[in-house]
Amino acid sequence: MNLVDIYFKMKKDVQYIEDELEKAIDTPVRELYLSSTHLLKAGGKRIRPVFVLLGGKWGNYDIKKLKHVAVPLELIHMASLVHDDVIDDADKRRGKDTVRMKWDNKVAMYAGDYIFARALAIASQLPIPQLHQILSNAIVEVCKGEIQQVKDLNNWDQNFRTYLRRIKRKTALLIAISCQLGAVASGASDDMIRKMYWYGYNVGMAFQITDDILDFTGTEKQLGKPAGSDLVHGNITLPALYSAHHGKARAQFQEWNAKNTFWDHVDEAVRMVREDEGIAFSQRLAERYIDRAHAILADLPNNQAKTSLTGIANYIVDRKF
Ligand code: IPE
Ligand code: IPE
Ligand code: MG
Ligand code: MG
Repeated sequence: MNLVDIYFKMKKDVQYIEDELEKAIDTPVRELYLSSTHLLKAGGKRIRPVFVLLGGKWGNYDIKKLKHVAVPLELIHMASLVHDDVIDDADKRRGKDTVRMKWDNKVAMYAGDYIFARALAIASQLPIPQLHQILSNAIVEVCKGEIQQVKDLNNWDQNFRTYLRRIKRKTALLIAISCQLGAVASGASDDMIRKMYWYGYNVGMAFQITDDILDFTGTEKQLGKPAGSDLVHGNITLPALYSAHHGKARAQFQEWNAKNTFWDHVDEAVRMVREDEGIAFSQRLAERYIDRAHAILADLPNNQAKTSLTGIANYIVDRKF
């Protein structure tokens, strides 16, 4: 089943969450309203709320409860994007100017904080302590991952483990807990809650690896931002790391680094990574994570939710945007 069909099956509830998202960040403070709804209106896949809803299918599915998890998770994601675009000096997001570009870094700081706070306010309407611990811990981990990325900027000494730890924190955990908290909010069994977490973790790792591949192989139109942005901004992701340590580009990268001139050649380096073996290597690693996600699903009873989770896992590694 492809992504369009999966979303189509859940259309009513996805639209309901969409309406709730808009309400969630409504405010009479004009500047805050404009800056925080800017990203919401630019679109996005809303994949985290979809994971919450699918996680919710393993207990007593109740959209009125699940919205208190689905809305916060998309908001936490959005807030982290507003801040991420400051960290990454990004001008474009979802095909539109970023908040920091349209306003400035100061507005982006508070628009992000505002969206975070609204997420917590909505989640607080569900009286499940475990849920709040998991949510706040995930936000802490995203902060650690993003700070780590700032520290690892322009650093070729990092290894694959450093990279994997960073993407676990900045991306995979939020996707893991989307699946997990859907199951928690619907009162699913502990076993199902655990399985949803591990499914989401593996899918989340594959999701960020694919995002990092697409940054090299995608077009500006597909990505909603210029291709090659990561490396140009000094963010060394898996394909580039592979090129530097094991790829055809290795000798050239070493020469530039020895002369301290790598960043003068960064556009050429982007082209070299794009044509190097690190792309296929990264693709294979993403597929391995997806295989693990499928193995977890294999244990579950056959139903519509399982079919959808299977389809999304396949989409993650095949996606072009
Ligand atoms: C982008 O996430 C940031 C990453 C964690 C890779 P998405 O690809 O889910 O972004 P939107 O929400 O669809 O714009
Ligand atoms: C996104 O990381 C992760 C978070 C928002 C925490 P990226 O920097 O890789 O995502 P894009 O490429 O800007 O969407
Ligand atoms: Mg980033
Ligand atoms: Mg970024």
